[in-house]
Amino acid sequence: MGCKIIGCGKALPERRVTNDELASLVDTSDEWIVSRTGIRERRIAVGETATDLGVMAARRALGAEEGGWRSDAAEAVDPASIDLIVCMTISGDTVVPSQAAMLKAALGLPSAVAFDLNAACAGCVYGMDVASQMLELSAAEQRAAAAEGRPPRRNPLRRALVVGTERLTRLVDWTDRATCVLFGDGAGAVVLEWREGEPGVLSSFLRNTDDLDGVLAVGNAFDMTTFPFGGPVEAAGAHSAAMARFGDRAVATLGEAPAEGGEGGASPFIVMDGPAVFKFASNAMAEAACAVLERAGLAIDDVKCIVPHQANERIIKYAAKKLGVGLDRFQVSLASVGNTSASSVLMALADAYLAGRIEPGDAVMLVGFGGGLTSGALLYRA
Ligand code: UT7
Repeated sequence: MGCKIIGCGKALPERRVTNDELASLVDTSDEWIVSRTGIRERRIAVGETATDLGVMAARRALGAEEGGWRSDAAEAVDPASIDLIVCMTISGDTVVPSQAAMLKAALGLPSAVAFDLNAACAGCVYGMDVASQMLELSAAEQRAAAAEGRPPRRNPLRRALVVGTERLTRLVDWTDRATCVLFGDGAGAVVLEWREGEPGVLSSFLRNTDDLDGVLAVGNAFDMTTFPFGGPVEAAGAHSAAMARFGDRAVATLGEAPAEGGEGGASPFIVMDGPAVFKFASNAMAEAACAVLERAGLAIDDVKCIVPHQANERIIKYAAKKLGVGLDRFQVSLASVGNTSASSVLMALADAYLAGRIEPGDAVMLVGFGGGLTSGALLYRA
């Protein structure tokens, strides 16, 4: 309750890559990609960093730049009023500083505390839930502090910037047709504000399903060139089905000496059993959607707009069928951007706001899934 979206924006890199262009790189076709996924083209960050994309999306959500949606279009949000930045990414520019810290500095937000969140492609749903719960807890603490005549015991948080930014195409094996046709780069952002007594987030549902078959993984590219303590970490495989399944494609460089003259061993690519992820996703989306409806005491027909993770149009159609609603209730944006992982739901949400699909008072559902395996949904009143 009380947590409102007051701004939303997205940003895309310049470079547009069509299916036909990919067909000149790997053995694929526009026909295969469109019929199996719904994707027609994607954007690839060549000159842009994840920070550049995140900053652009955030500035649009804040009203500092044209191109975003704002509940009060007349006034830009004061940068000093942002208390929190949560950034969802699996392809940030650096591990330390966090991507959120980079955004804070680049945007010039003096008061915000900033941290990253990795829930893979379900990142937007997880990030929105975490940020909104932090605002709600802070409001409760401030009320208690005022009632007891004492200072708050925690950071007062009233406004949050939630950003998904991905330069995912750096994690793609561009010789693997099974994955390289799916992904794209981009960023999405929302500004959340706590408004006492107003409806906001109605319910949420998060789930982690152990990836026992190792269907989706991205390894860490550790540079072992200076590591003096021995060979490959055999035991790692025992802890991760993904490592066991994909072997050195998933664990990439763990303990492995680089090739002569190399920079530190093999690159960590996205490795995925597509059909298995498809099966998981189709069921997980419907489960999460039903759970948030039940928790909020609403029916699917009460929801004006459903904004799903944009991985595959067939997955969204399957979820629509399971929920018993038409595809027209869903925001489907993937044809022009592909799967942008932790950015995808907020980018599609920006599309929905900019298209005028969401009016004040409407119930809106965000729903996602991803590696981990993560899944979840969040229902809010606009
Ligand atoms: O954000 C979460 C991350 N991932 C996902 O959400 C992905 C979920 N999975 C999917 O979207 C689908 O499984 C894919 C789009 C990845 C694949 O579609 P599919 O209908 O499940 O195809 P498939 O993997 O079963 O492959 C069917 C055929 C295979 O050939 P054979 O063995 O039947 O001869 C593949 O080798 O299609 C072939 N294939 C391709 N052909 C042309 C796989 N990729 C391509 C390609 N172009 N790009």
